Amino acid sequence: MTRGKFITVEGVEGGGKSTNIAYIAEQLEKSDIDFILTREPGGTEVAEAIRNVLLDTELPSMHSDTELLLMFAARAEHIQKKILPALAEGTWVICDRFTDSSYAYQSGGRGIPTERIAALETWVQGDLRPDVTLLFDLDADVGLARTRVRGAADRFEKEAVDFFNAVRAKYLSMAKAFPERYRIINAQQDLDAVQKQLQMVLDDLLV
Ligand code: TYD
Repeated sequence: MTRGKFITVEGVEGGGKSTNIAYIAEQLEKSDIDFILTREPGGTEVAEAIRNVLLDTELPSMHSDTELLLMFAARAEHIQKKILPALAEGTWVICDRFTDSSYAYQSGGRGIPTERIAALETWVQGDLRPDVTLLFDLDADVGLARTRVRGAADRFEKEAVDFFNAVRAKYLSMAKAFPERYRIINAQQDLDAVQKQLQMVLDDLLV
C-alpha cells in the first residue's frame, strides 16, 4: 500500500492556520483522499494531557529544557500511536504544528541550541519527516494583534513581540534550508488571496 502523505502546517500565532486547515480538509474531501487532521502538542489522549501542562498559565514558569522535552514526549506518543499507523494504512496526515515549531519556538524563541533539537528529532522520529510543510508567514505583530482579540492567552501567547519575531525568523531560515519541503504562504493578505496561494500548493500535491 502506498504510504499516506504527511503534511504539516506552521507559522506564528494569528496566521490563520485553523481556517486554512479547514480549507485544506474541504479540498482533500473533494478529491476523495483518506486523511486525518491532528495537532501538536497533542493528538492523542496522553499527548493532549501533556499539552495541558505546556499551555497552562496557572503553573509557574518552566525551564526551557523541560518545555522542549515535554514537546518531544508528546510527539513520541503522537507519532507512535497515531501518525505512523495512519501513514502505513495509506491515510494522509495533516498536522497543525510539528517539529518545525520546536525549532522555531524552543530554538528561535527560547534560544536552545539547534543541535539539541536535531538530536531529539533523530531519536524520536527516526527517518519520519513531513513530505510538505506549509508555512503561513506574516509579521509577528500583525499576527499577535489578531490573536489578542480572541480572548484568554495561553502560556506562549503571553510572550512579547520580540519572541515572535525570533520565532518567525527561525521559520524563514528553515524554509531557506529546506526549500524542497517548505511552501511559504503570505498570510498577511486577505483570506481570498491566501486561499488562492494555498490552492496552488494543493493542486500540486493532488496531481
Ligand atoms: P496552539 O493553541 O495550538 O497555538 P496556535 O493556535 O498558534 O497553533 O498552541 C500551541 C503552542 O505551542 C503554540 O504557541 C506554539 C507552541 N509550540 C512550541 O512551542 N513547540 C512545539 O514543538 C509545538 C508543537 C508547539
